[in-house]
Amino acid sequence: FDGFIGVGGGSIMDTAKVANLCSTCPADFLTYVNAPIGKATLVPGPLKPLICIPTTAGTGSETTGVAIFDIVKMHAKTGIASRAIRPVEGIIDPENTRTLPPIIAACTGFDVLVHALESYTALPYNRRLAPENPRLRPTYQGSNPISDIWAVKAIEIVSSNIMRVIENPADDASRSQMIMAATFAGIGFGNAGVHLAHGMSYPVSGMVRGFKPAGYPLDYPIIPHGMAVILCAPSVFRFTAAANPARHLEAAQLMGIEIANSRIEDAGEILAGLLVSLMQKTGMPNGLEAVGYTASDVDKLVEGTLPQHRVNSLSPRLFTVDDLKKLFLNSLRYW
Ligand SMILES: [Fe+2]
Repeated sequence: FDGFIGVGGGSIMDTAKVANLCSTCPADFLTYVNAPIGKATLVPGPLKPLICIPTTAGTGSETTGVAIFDIVKMHAKTGIASRAIRPVEGIIDPENTRTLPPIIAACTGFDVLVHALESYTALPYNRRLAPENPRLRPTYQGSNPISDIWAVKAIEIVSSNIMRVIENPADDASRSQMIMAATFAGIGFGNAGVHLAHGMSYPVSGMVRGFKPAGYPLDYPIIPHGMAVILCAPSVFRFTAAANPARHLEAAQLMGIEIANSRIEDAGEILAGLLVSLMQKTGMPNGLEAVGYTASDVDKLVEGTLPQHRVNSLSPRLFTVDDLKKLFLNSLRYW
């Protein structure tokens, strides 16, 4: 091949990234996969050109050097993160999202919102441990003044358009805004990173048993990525707000509420409350219980979250295994 073109949602674009990597720099598959599941070896050189054309307004994968996938035999969701796999070009055309079913518009829209909220609240870049060698700098660097600009804009755009695209897929202006927000958030989080809601979402999706979302055009069980992320997000922001309440309150303001009379110590609760109310309006399941999990699954879910170092290390608040357990328990039901 002279180059690659990925046309589709996040899984398709990520598959194109990995196909490019595996065919250009062949090696055992786990060579490049994130540690501790893989060896996280640096990609040795430039890859072939890759053009990505998203057909959902969600992942932002057309902008990032990250590919996420399941390793089925290990029951693990993990990924490859390297600047080398980032597409050379993304073609963003809202015509490609015209026929998205409302449930996919909702799930992917929540993915965008949480990308932006997490990159805005991630551990700041200057509080992350510097690597020994600049070449070992992670793809995800922590929140920083440049990623903040993209995240802020994406939070505002999604908050004012997500209901419109779900209720009326023919609303061209809103669909244009949403796919642009997906790209904005992608540039932000592709640089700053995401944190605990994404870390927790991977085992939530990976351990799915029988759940099939109503209206989802697949005939096998799935907890779509954006759904898994938003099911964890309210608990996560209630927890992380203590690390930087001002940022969490500001994020709530960006979602469209007046904060002049709000107390800073309520920041986490305010932000979580906005997300829960949006979940209700968009028909999301009421927590992890509604997608098939119970308290007896929490230990396994924690076990699946702990290896997600790439994102967990960007949590603005240090956490213990016990904290993670509480986060999952608090995510079982929201209303
Ligand atoms: Fe995501």
